[in-house]
Amino acid sequence: MTIEMFCPQWYYIETVPVEYQQQIEKLFEPQIRDESIYVDSPWDCNCLSTFQSQGNFDLPWNDWLECIRSTLDKMIDELKPQIDIEIKPQEAWANLYNKGMHQEYHTHDVPFCNLSMCYLYDVPDGDPLFRFIYNDHDKYKKSGLSDAFKMPIQTRVIPKASKGDLIVFPSHYPHMVAPNPVDTPRITFSGNLYVMPNDKASQESPTPKDSML
Ligand SMILES: [Fe+2]
Repeated sequence: MTIEMFCPQWYYIETVPVEYQQQIEKLFEPQIRDESIYVDSPWDCNCLSTFQSQGNFDLPWNDWLECIRSTLDKMIDELKPQIDIEIKPQEAWANLYNKGMHQEYHTHDVPFCNLSMCYLYDVPDGDPLFRFIYNDHDKYKKSGLSDAFKMPIQTRVIPKASKGDLIVFPSHYPHMVAPNPVDTPRITFSGNLYVMPNDKASQESPTPKDSML
């Protein structure tokens, strides 16, 4: 007999190849440090954001996607697709955190979005800014089980991430960004993706179910 785990939570983290990190910097500097492209966050937090702002239209998000494409491809390989899929990029935006700025608990759980990304464009070394929140921890705590036994159950999960890393996760995961403790501004990019069946592929090679219609 042994303890078996089931339904694990997961996220993907990978360092974007250095040559692509440099390309991203070339694309976004210096406009990404110009606070006039940002607006006050539309959420319940105090970070600055280009989300749905006029300035966001001028940022080269398609080029950024090209730069992270090889990293996303690696992730898709590791996730082992079991049908033909296509991935539709949705919106992308930048967040800027001056000292003390944070982003509150939230999800990206909106229509036509099932994977979300956070790219650490410029963050101080060792800054544990990004946290997933695991709400079911409360149930273990209430029951006393998490005090009684050593369990891999945590309220907060903090990826070991640094500048140039891309974190990808299911969009319904609650997460937050801790306050920036230092004077240097921290800049992150966020983006949403929609993974869906590739209709074209299924039309070209009908499945047995299709051929029965
Ligand atoms: Fe987010």
